[in-house]
Amino acid sequence: MSSFNPRNKIATRTRLTEVRYEIRGELARRARELEGQGRSLIKLNIGNPGAFGFRAPEHLQQAIAGRIARTDPYTHQQGLPEAREAIAAFHKARGTPNASPERVFVGNGVSELIDISLRALLNPGEEVLVPSPDYPLWSAATILNDGRPVYYKCDRDNGFLPDPEQIESLVSSRTRAIVLINPNNPTGANYPREILERIVAIAQRYRLLLLVDEIYDHILYDGNTFQPVAPLAGDLPCLSFGGLSKVHRACGWRVGWAVLSGDPLASGDFHHAMDLLGALRLCANVPGQFAIEQALHGADTITPLCEPGGRLYETRKALIEACEASPHLSLVAPAGALYGFPQVVGDAARGFDDHEFALQMLEEEDVLIVPGTSFNVPYRNHFRVTLLPEAPVLREVFARIDRVLSRRADAPSRSAVA
Ligand SMILES: Cc1ncc(COP(=O)(O)O)c(C=O)c1O
Repeated sequence: MSSFNPRNKIATRTRLTEVRYEIRGELARRARELEGQGRSLIKLNIGNPGAFGFRAPEHLQQAIAGRIARTDPYTHQQGLPEAREAIAAFHKARGTPNASPERVFVGNGVSELIDISLRALLNPGEEVLVPSPDYPLWSAATILNDGRPVYYKCDRDNGFLPDPEQIESLVSSRTRAIVLINPNNPTGANYPREILERIVAIAQRYRLLLLVDEIYDHILYDGNTFQPVAPLAGDLPCLSFGGLSKVHRACGWRVGWAVLSGDPLASGDFHHAMDLLGALRLCANVPGQFAIEQALHGADTITPLCEPGGRLYETRKALIEACEASPHLSLVAPAGALYGFPQVVGDAARGFDDHEFALQMLEEEDVLIVPGTSFNVPYRNHFRVTLLPEAPVLREVFARIDRVLSRRADAPSRSAVA
């Protein structure tokens, strides 16, 4: 028997109990166990293009391969100078005010920069306005940097768009920033200019920093167009995030960037804080940074995937058709990004619990999906799938989903049983 004294157990940071990242959590662990037992699963939990047979564009691969001898040293903490030039030029061309290489921060993915930016900004107890549903790293990083996420609703009845009036009603003396995720993960909503202008006006009124996660900026369907926030923000400090993971299908290279715009006098200390935190981790991975110039100024490889005949377009079409054909599902068709976020409706929704459903899909149907509550929503009747598999795979997944939901709909209700 072990002589281990439980009092000697290593205690961990208390606030970690408030943090979740279920996209890679308990269900994903169970999926690995099942795979270990020889089960073949369809895993739709992560927006990871490389895991679905996509490759990063050839000219990006070549850009790294041709410069591999230059990737050994650390580079500047804010990123490789030529990569920052390319990012600043890309932002200038789309109207970002005062974008310059000195105001670009390259990180190990947008993920690292989300954490660094909130660490640079927040004092204990300060609040960040975060969308609900959110991409859960925004909540987690706020909490782990001693802040408090305050959620503004993006209601499905409103096409999952933010409501500026509600956002304003949540501003308090402790509010420091507004997070916008556009195009949105998990809902696929693409925010119109008019709503963004109203949110910028709120940030202006209360001197809040705009933190704008635009990692899906060029993944749009059906003629939807993308409106970047920074050009609307003018002199107001705004940090815009982008990267190679999604638009350029290179998640594993871990390349993201954040561009600070607006009046440098208003954001000088914040700039220094970001620079210092960047310096403490020395620099981001260097090899992938050599692909940035080609990614932003070379051939466009994402638009053809989003147009009729393109792989993402066809899978999204399969998703929309499957939800339309199902009596149990209702979908706000995604305008952009890589996900569908259907709602379970009708008899199947009686006593529905998204986590229990996701576990059932895994155990009985070999499909891994993400429960809606993973995205910090108070309701339990949604789930998320990624649009990355081929259309026939998604059709098969929805046939299985329908099978399970039909069984649930046909089961006697709990009250009838009682
Ligand atoms: C909205 C959003 N922001 C940031 C990230 C993280 O991206 P990266 O791979 O650049 O860290 C993701 C990844 O799924 C995302 O969906």
